Amino acid sequence: MKFVAVASAAISTILFATPLAEAHVTANPSAAVSGSYFQTSFRVPHGCDGNATNLVIVEIPKGVSSVKPRPLYPWNTTISMVPLDTPITTPTGTINTTVGSITWSNGLIQDNMYEDFGLQFKLPTQEGPLYWKVYQHCVNNEWNNWTSVPDANGKTDGFPAAVITLSNSTTTTGPGGASPSASSKPSAAVAAFQSLNFGRVALISSGAFLVALI
Ligand SMILES: *[C@@H]1O[C@H](CO)[C@@H](O)[C@H](O)[C@H]1NC(C)=O
Ligand SMILES: *[C@@H]1O[C@H](CO)[C@@H](O)[C@H](O)[C@H]1NC(C)=O
Ligand SMILES: *[C@@H]1O[C@H](CO)[C@@H](O)[C@H](O)[C@H]1NC(C)=O
Ligand SMILES: *[C@@H]1O[C@H](CO)[C@@H](O)[C@H](O)[C@H]1NC(C)=O
Ligand SMILES: *[C@@H]1O[C@H](CO)[C@@H](O)[C@H](O)[C@H]1NC(C)=O
Repeated sequence: MKFVAVASAAISTILFATPLAEAHVTANPSAAVSGSYFQTSFRVPHGCDGNATNLVIVEIPKGVSSVKPRPLYPWNTTISMVPLDTPITTPTGTINTTVGSITWSNGLIQDNMYEDFGLQFKLPTQEGPLYWKVYQHCVNNEWNNWTSVPDANGKTDGFPAAVITLSNSTTTTGPGGASPSASSKPSAAVAAFQSLNFGRVALISSGAFLVALI
């Protein structure tokens, strides 16, 4: 009985955690292999007190490199550089800056709509949660700053930062790797099947990206 209870709790978490989490800004997918090239999107699920969103800033955590945003019509996509703590020496010179943040401006997401802001990048070789601060600005001049990182008790304020969970194991990219969207709630079996396939697509595309780089 104990096993059944634990199993059903785990299944409930898998099935229901995603729709609840989507009240906040989230990374989709959010499970990644440590040190890998990864593509994800930061989802802005609603506006500010009913007002539309017109500016989104994603701050790049330290250790994340090779950052490229996906341009999103009609938004203006701006890449801001910051100095590197430790400049990198290459045969063609010294690299002393890195991408510090990406700003999408001059767009509009009505409160009853959502949008995904895409990024590809190389992850650092570490394990566990990597927090991404996302700043959302709305037409009423209000900010929703999704910057809160859990304290020792796992508590955040009302605006938790987005999180990508890094693991050395390639098998964890599956179910957490791509969650079915809240708008299309498929059956449990379909959801599990889709998750597996999305995981595979993510692995294949990150593999292809590596090949492209080499
Ligand atoms: C916009 O936000 C303000 C509070 O800043 C609120 O009073 C107003 O009702 C909101 N407008 C809409 C259209 O929701
Ligand atoms: C986007 O940014 C460019 C460069 O800063 C600027 O010239 C252009 O006017 C901007 N477009 C909009 C729609 O703001
Ligand atoms: C960074 O490197 C450029 C040339 O690659 C150089 O002109 C600039 O002074 C450097 N900046 C710092 C802060 O070292
Ligand atoms: C949210 O972030 C923006 C941009 O950094 C800042 O200007 C604003 O003061 C912040 N607002 C709050 C309530 O923290
Ligand atoms: C994960 O990989 C890193 C870097 O390769 C290594 O230092 C670390 O010990 C690994 N962790 C586990 C649990 O294997």
